[in-house]
Amino acid sequence: MSQPFYLIANWKMHFLESEAKALYGAFVEFAEMDAAVKVWVAAPAVHLPILQQVRSGKVPYGAQNVHFELSGAYTGEISVPMVRDCGGTFSLVGHSERRILFHESEELLGKRAEGALRQGLNIVYCVGETLDQRESHQTMSVLENQFATISELVGSYNNGELLIAYEPVWAIGTGRVASTDEIAEAHLHLKTLAAQAGNPMLPVLYGGSVKPQNIEEIATLDDVDGALVGGASLDSDSFRSLYQKSAAALNR
Ligand code: PGA
Repeated sequence: MSQPFYLIANWKMHFLESEAKALYGAFVEFAEMDAAVKVWVAAPAVHLPILQQVRSGKVPYGAQNVHFELSGAYTGEISVPMVRDCGGTFSLVGHSERRILFHESEELLGKRAEGALRQGLNIVYCVGETLDQRESHQTMSVLENQFATISELVGSYNNGELLIAYEPVWAIGTGRVASTDEIAEAHLHLKTLAAQAGNPMLPVLYGGSVKPQNIEEIATLDDVDGALVGGASLDSDSFRSLYQKSAAALNR
């Protein structure tokens, strides 16, 4: 396989210290049994120093959002140096919960993405349409607009420094997974945009109700380079199952 399959846990706003440590420890137990599948964890910011205490190179961890300035009067924000100081290697940027619940604009997300990458932090940039947008046939133009925010960065960051996650908003946490045709169409579109921007190898992950029951068909789709997983990453058994099933599907 030319590039790894990324299985990224998004813990959102879950867990206290002992739970985060225990779950991370469980992930370390099975991660890297198969070199083709890479496990990363996007943890709540307060868990980063906790994970640092039990850090394993097998499971890189990072933040769920990051600011573009090195420091300053930005109450409630965290900086790239803070994430890195806690051993974090990446951050999500533009998750739909940031876009919708916290009204983060394309302009702000572009600054977050560029600031993080320029300061040496990898990012997973999230895109995806709402149900209204899909039903009014705007999915591809929404993805184009969201992609445009990072298109000038795409050509300069390779080898896992910049990943994209396609997450249809209507599939996140709803149990309603996009069909394989819908996923394939969106991923092909994003790969085409990435190629036009100078990076045909840009990894594009799928997210939205990924579960042990559907990971195999998603993992084997062309143009799907990984999965960003919320609900099914909150339990060691289901996340191990995702890991094992994606590894088996990829090795077939
Ligand atoms: P879900 O969340 O797997 O619970 O749908 C995915 C995400 O929000 O990244």
